[in-house]
Amino acid sequence: MTLRSVIMGTGSALPRRCVSNDELAQTVDTSDAWIVERTGIRQRYIAGEGETTTTLAVEASRHALEAAGVAPDEVDLIVLATATPDQTFPASATIVQAQLGIPDCVAFDVGAVCSGFLYALTVADNMLRGGAARTALVIGAETFSRILDWEDRATCVLFGDGAGAVVLRAQETDAQAGRGILASKLHADGRYNALLNVDGGPSTTGTVGKVRMKGQDVFRHAVVNLAEVLREVLASAGVAAGEIDWVVPHQANARILDATARKLKLDPAKVVMTVDRHANTSAASVPLALDVAVRDGRIRKGDLVVLEAMGGGFTWGASLLRY
Ligand code: UT7
Repeated sequence: MTLRSVIMGTGSALPRRCVSNDELAQTVDTSDAWIVERTGIRQRYIAGEGETTTTLAVEASRHALEAAGVAPDEVDLIVLATATPDQTFPASATIVQAQLGIPDCVAFDVGAVCSGFLYALTVADNMLRGGAARTALVIGAETFSRILDWEDRATCVLFGDGAGAVVLRAQETDAQAGRGILASKLHADGRYNALLNVDGGPSTTGTVGKVRMKGQDVFRHAVVNLAEVLREVLASAGVAAGEIDWVVPHQANARILDATARKLKLDPAKVVMTVDRHANTSAASVPLALDVAVRDGRIRKGDLVVLEAMGGGFTWGASLLRY
């Protein structure tokens, strides 16, 4: 037997308003044809009045707790990944804690942009296996629409808002066939800041700033880094690519997903794709896609699932788990 962090339940939340490419093309110099061909995106959800990163995070968390059959007061750790917190401080995780009525727990945010959920999951997994907590809520939640330059067609058409959450619990499981997180691998290379960043912050401009991206350069790095980190995580668990039941990737661009799958000779039918309906929701994209595939019955208990993401920093990472 071995102690592992097991996903007990998943949940997600989207803003009320869905914006199609055609609707966007009424105010931005773009077209449905360009966006679909270059990215696979057909629509995105945009937060409206009263909707924030934490309102979405709380809704996703409630769904995950319900699916897990876990009461909020059983949660002793909240790790929330976001680049768009409600406030510069305190951590959005503490706002979620208060909204869920959890009297005391450890709660903090993790910032790794689009890889944020992989970072949060790995931190929580290590804390659970190290005995610092027993039941964790791991959340990816974003309102990227609030940091987009709506005059920059090269970025504003790519992103959307949303949240995803998982309930993670430390459990003794069979070392061979048991469920839980089997291996994770994280990377960062801060030399690439200029290729994908926000041009502001409390300590520099004193403003929130807007997303800036050199898309083609990011694309090239994403395909190489994601294929490499997937190979690493599979090798460290002694699992062959052909044994994987489902790949749940960060949903940035359908072409990146296809190219990464080709590089690893993975069956494209095993890659969960939600970028068409959610666009790129940064830290929320992996748990949102995971929740979609769990709820529509594709991902079942016992399946071997690999999660992967790459984003600003650059940061990137992957986790292999038996669902
Ligand atoms: O989540 C973090 C990680 N992020 C990513 O992984 C994003 C990675 N990058 C990408 O997904 C792609 O590079 C983009 C989707 C951002 C761009 O696709 P691309 O095929 O690399 O296009 P491009 O930037 O080379 O632009 C091609 C043309 C340009 O026009 P010219 O110079 O060829 O005349 C752009 O001005 O498309 C133009 N363009 C647009 N046209 C219509 C750029 N944005 C738009 C737009 N609508 N929204």
